[in-house]
Amino acid sequence: MKEYISKLRKDYGIRELTEDMADPNPILQFEKWFTEAANMGIVEPNAMTISTAGKDGKVSARIVLLRNFDEKGFVFYTNYNSRKGRQLSENPYACLSFFWCEAERQVRIAGRVEKISTLESMDYFNSRPLSNRIGSWASAQSEVLESREELEKKVEELEKIYANTEPEKPPFWGGFRVVPEEIEFWQGRPSRLHDRLQYTRKAGGWKMVRLNP
Ligand SMILES: Cc1cc2nc3c(=O)[nH]c(=O)nc-3n(C[C@H](O)[C@H](O)[C@H](O)COP(=O)(O)O)c2cc1C
Repeated sequence: MKEYISKLRKDYGIRELTEDMADPNPILQFEKWFTEAANMGIVEPNAMTISTAGKDGKVSARIVLLRNFDEKGFVFYTNYNSRKGRQLSENPYACLSFFWCEAERQVRIAGRVEKISTLESMDYFNSRPLSNRIGSWASAQSEVLESREELEKKVEELEKIYANTEPEKPPFWGGFRVVPEEIEFWQGRPSRLHDRLQYTRKAGGWKMVRLNP
């Protein structure tokens, strides 16, 4: 297995990313790449890794789903009391990364994180299937669970409670917005000589530079 891993090697080269091709606005550039990823049939193109660290500086990362993006930032939903939620309350900075394998592309987004408004979270919560809304109430995300049965029992009880009434958004559940300060687009190229364009927010706009691969 060790040898197998050390010999795994894929050369990239289906596309390139030049300064001329790149939109001067990284949000529009993201939209272009996201649309292409979706059109290629990439499964869950909105799955992204979010890395966070609390005040102890120890980093943790996990996947969440991007649910909205615009000039204001990149939104995902979670339990505010989860490990990531607690870390973000101590240190409101995060880094998002997307890997669209079939497109040989990576996007990295770093910035300050803020909670979105309760109203915006409610709107999204109410659009979710009932079972997911019940799941949000049932799960004390990231806390120790004695058994699978304990969770399933909780869900059954909640299903009875919400047989005739709509669940409201739990106060501990909602969205976070990553407000980008830096966005990097990476396009795989042959011989590991990849294209990397990095945008940094400057007063009133964005500055783009090319980075060494
Ligand atoms: C494809 C995929 C999508 C996920 N989407 C979300 C999500 O949108 N929100 C969320 O809280 N957790 C999501 N999760 C679960 C997280 O990866 C993680 O297990 C959970 O949020 C707890 O993380 P934490 O203990 O670091 O806070 C997803 C996992 C996968 C694999």
